[in-house]
Amino acid sequence: MDLQTLEFLLSNDGQDLIAELKTLMSDGISELRSQEILRAKYPARSVSAAVELLLLRHRARDKFSRADSMFFTRIGLEQSSSEVVSRYRAQRYKPFENVADLCTGIGGDLIALAEGRSCTAVDIDPVHLKMAEVNANVYEARPSDTVLADVKDLAFEDFEAVFIDPSRRSQDKRILDPRFGEPPLDWCLSISSRIKNIGIKTSPGLDKAIIPEGWEIEFISLRGDLKEAVLWSPSMSTAKRRATLLPGEYTLAALSVAPVVVDNPGRYILDPDPAVTRAGLVSNLAQEIDAWMIDENLAFLSSNRYLATPFAKTWEVLYSGRWGLRHLKQALIDLDAGSVDIRKRRSPIDVEQLRRKLDPVLKGTSRYMVFLTELSGNPWMFICS
Ligand SMILES: C[S@@+](CC[C@H](N)C(=O)[O-])C[C@H]1O[C@@H](n2cnc3c(N)ncnc32)[C@H](O)[C@@H]1O
Repeated sequence: MDLQTLEFLLSNDGQDLIAELKTLMSDGISELRSQEILRAKYPARSVSAAVELLLLRHRARDKFSRADSMFFTRIGLEQSSSEVVSRYRAQRYKPFENVADLCTGIGGDLIALAEGRSCTAVDIDPVHLKMAEVNANVYEARPSDTVLADVKDLAFEDFEAVFIDPSRRSQDKRILDPRFGEPPLDWCLSISSRIKNIGIKTSPGLDKAIIPEGWEIEFISLRGDLKEAVLWSPSMSTAKRRATLLPGEYTLAALSVAPVVVDNPGRYILDPDPAVTRAGLVSNLAQEIDAWMIDENLAFLSSNRYLATPFAKTWEVLYSGRWGLRHLKQALIDLDAGSVDIRKRRSPIDVEQLRRKLDPVLKGTSRYMVFLTELSGNPWMFICS
């Protein structure tokens, strides 16, 4: 969408177009026919943009409670932070009255950062910048200023703190290594010579070796999906590493070095949330909940008591033994298995092939979880419920 089309959609005529399109679609008129009808009255480009917008609003409901009033580009929506994540992160900006949301995109972070404080939104893309302003207003959050600029040209002395969410796209291709985002991670880190309080959203796959001394890395998962890592400058840091699980806001930090306690698997296996695993906090979790690791290099914990924790899923072990297809099939028959979920950790087995091989024996009624892993160097399997 270009700026002119966005401005049309924001005008009274554009709002009428969107409303008419919604009515046609909810009356069951096909998208093609709706477009034909509307093209008689509105510019073709605006009609196509309105169709795309309604599709994106529908997709955005997972991320934003007010998606139906917001404006998106496809890339802007894909890269935006969800409302629950941005609200959580914005809490660290509580001490500051004047902040900047750099690379504001469609405003996923702005809606939380501009609430109750002065916040300047900056983006190099005029369409995103306008959308960010409109979307923040949808949440009654008003950016104090919107600046169309390359963040690399900013004078940072105007702000107490900044949040940066670099672009992870280049010419429609996804950039997997955050070092090569736009602006690159090196540049984001380098502004610490000009401003003290910085939060940088980055990919959870980031090589931890490149994190400068004194910075915190926080891994954030949402409903069990690892979403992002945030780098906090020393003045905003609360721990060296942190795992945060949303929406419950459960957080676990590496405040001290936890001893690694390893023992044989007990009655229960605990599968930590990916944020805990990625943050390298499995032994800290074990210490906190009084569990043990079953292998020093494996992110599974164990206990003989049922342990309820938001940081891991607890499974009762019904079968534990060396990996072997024949044994697995027999154990599943004995357990009256009708279906299985299979998860592997440090196992070379092809899950899809295994699923096909197990199909003929799954004639029962119960559902189980099969973990394929390695224990003390041996291929291992657990059947759990
Ligand atoms: C990952 S998106 C930001 C998402 C946003 N935090 C949200 O939740 O909606 C990155 C944004 O950075 C902008 N951008 C990329 N390079 C930039 C630069 N050098 N200066 C300013 N903005 C830039 C892009 O236009 C894009 O809108």
